[in-house]
Amino acid sequence: MNQQLAQHWGLNPEVAFLNHGSFGAAPRVVLEAQRREQDAQERDPIHYLAPERSLYKKLDAVRSRLGDFLGCPADDLAFVRNATDGVNAVLRSFKLEPGDRIVITNHGYNACNNAARYVAERAGAEVSVAEIPFPIEDPAEAVAAVAAACCDRTRLILVDHVTSPTGLILPVEEIVQQARARGIRTLVDAAHGPGMLAMDLERVGADYTTGNLHKWLCGPKVSGFLHVRPELQETVRPCVISHAANTPAEGRSRFIAEFDWTGTFDPSPLLSVPHAIDFLEGVIPGGLAAVRASNRALVMEGRAILCDALGVRPQAPDAMVGSLVALPLPAAPPRARSHGRVDPLQLALFEKHRVEVPIMHWPNQGQRWVRLSAQVYNDRSDYERLAAGLVAEGEASPA
Ligand SMILES: Cc1ncc(COP(=O)(O)O)c(C=O)c1O
Repeated sequence: MNQQLAQHWGLNPEVAFLNHGSFGAAPRVVLEAQRREQDAQERDPIHYLAPERSLYKKLDAVRSRLGDFLGCPADDLAFVRNATDGVNAVLRSFKLEPGDRIVITNHGYNACNNAARYVAERAGAEVSVAEIPFPIEDPAEAVAAVAAACCDRTRLILVDHVTSPTGLILPVEEIVQQARARGIRTLVDAAHGPGMLAMDLERVGADYTTGNLHKWLCGPKVSGFLHVRPELQETVRPCVISHAANTPAEGRSRFIAEFDWTGTFDPSPLLSVPHAIDFLEGVIPGGLAAVRASNRALVMEGRAILCDALGVRPQAPDAMVGSLVALPLPAAPPRARSHGRVDPLQLALFEKHRVEVPIMHWPNQGQRWVRLSAQVYNDRSDYERLAAGLVAEGEASPA
């Protein structure tokens, strides 16, 4: 780990943490800000949480900062718990007729693809899977795969900005443009977007975009957003229906009011997000742009180290890499699917070699990938330790 920068986090110093991609990791200053919010909340619980007394004002300040950060008007942004919540809200609100189709991709996040299957089944609609190749040579292959999966009954495309098992940056702008030309709506799952990519939601132009603020933006868990184009906001409802369904909030659209209050919750993660942005702007010279560039350079370095050790080549062109990279491991016997089950190699790397890195089975059980993350607290030695661990476990050859 980069000792100097890692001191900003409370991460276990004995472990090379190469899995920022799963749940992020919040820096100390951000957690301190969150703690202050929680203290204020517990000091005056009613004044703090009753929306019209102070909460709305605080949420609006965060929304405004986030709108600037994501490249969209604040009024088009709702808060959600996380990307799964955002995807569910859109899908469960989406009117489907029997025979309609939703397109998902083979790289899609399982939970979100499940939500698409659920709403399709409920409506007598169907799900088509766009088969994006991997390894991939060119982003155009992803655009072509999504286009090929669409037909005249396709109503919605659910596509990731950065894919979870494979770490690919997908060309969402082109996918959105082509979909719009065919009259198909788009839902972009940008769970990994904020903090990894320069986000510009207005430019991408998707109908719906959701993302996490607790991953690469380093906000506290649980914090997410949902952006909806203004003309569609009336139709998108939160997964939990609460007061604002029949009680307007003065000066707020129903879209904002419904998502702002889905029952008692702890707003401290959301209210700490501006501290996360400030932290990343100040953690290294050059601010967030430098953080993104440095994470990308580091994951490339890690990729080279692991490609050597594993005797494999990069699986994607550089243009599709942000701060996540997946590389193939030798195949293993298929195992029964079980949510939360950890691959034995992942456990061995953690317990014996003190490396935390995900071993993903994709697209089928037994086809294994190691997924590298890079965050500013990492350095070259983390990838070298991983390579040595893979050699010791018989998964890679000594140099
Ligand atoms: C592409 C993608 N979508 C959605 C999610 C779900 O994130 P959360 O569990 O915070 O909702 C993830 C998590 O890694 C992801 O990679």
